[in-house]
Amino acid sequence: MAITKTICFANNKGGSGKSTTCANVGYALSTLGKKVLLIDGDMQMNLTLSFFDDETSLAFAKSDRNLYRGVVDQKDLTDFIVNTEYKGLDVIPSSTLMSSIEFDLFTKWQREFILKKGLDRIKASGKYDYILIDAPPTLGCWVMNIMCASDHLVIPVESSPWGLFGIANMFEFYEQIKQVAPNLNLLGIAITKANERKNYFKQTVDTLSSLENVRLFETIIRIDSTVEWSQDVSKPVMAYKKNSRAAKEYMELAKEIKKYVTR
Ligand SMILES: Nc1ncnc2c1ncn2[C@@H]1O[C@H](COP(=O)(O)OP(=O)(O)OP(=O)(O)O)[C@@H](O)[C@H]1O
Ligand SMILES: [Mg+2]
Repeated sequence: MAITKTICFANNKGGSGKSTTCANVGYALSTLGKKVLLIDGDMQMNLTLSFFDDETSLAFAKSDRNLYRGVVDQKDLTDFIVNTEYKGLDVIPSSTLMSSIEFDLFTKWQREFILKKGLDRIKASGKYDYILIDAPPTLGCWVMNIMCASDHLVIPVESSPWGLFGIANMFEFYEQIKQVAPNLNLLGIAITKANERKNYFKQTVDTLSSLENVRLFETIIRIDSTVEWSQDVSKPVMAYKKNSRAAKEYMELAKEIKKYVTR
């Protein structure tokens, strides 16, 4: 029986690589023999689309088998899990209806902890080594739910001036969450979509590595069009092109995350 570790990927800056990192790190962990549950917390359904084609993803969104229904109805989320074609890798799909989640949560009792409660039985079952949650690019009650349900937070940051600008908000939000979820641990920052030929890249690395008490993962995820091609066919990049640079980088990041997640 595994002790399940829950890790969320969050950053209010849009397009910072949250969904891509979550999907590919999740897949990498599953190929290392770990049992992984991926939870799509975003109305854009990008994590769901990383493993299922458009038609199947939309069918989840329209059905009762998606995270939105489970959370709004405050259900145990076990029945919302679907298998992927990959061994040891399951998903709780999202729905476009997630767009109204803030409104739906507003009147609920203990509204920051609904996702956490929904995951209690799954965690207690010991079926999964890791639960990875993909957050939307917002900082409201729903992302609070995602963080309160997690043991660890990974912040993917795009190597760009605006990528750095947003991170101060993220730290402030994290400090607020710690007041209601004191065990949440900021595992680290992952630089994504990096282009080493651009001068700004060096500045991103310098700025992020100078932050006190915040780990910057050694693995840097560089920009690679293979990632987009793999998403076009709803496959993790390692399953699409095992020997690509991106496939190797996501595997390295997964190993680093695995190494640091000790509780
Ligand atoms: N390593 C990479 N190489 C090339 N393209 C990438 C890489 N990582 C992400 N992308 C692309 O960048 C875009 C944003 O990535 P992604 O959707 O993962 O970010 P996000 O933070 O989840 O976005 P959102 O805030 O909208 O949820 C996508 O089009 C994705 O294909
Ligand atoms: Mg996303």
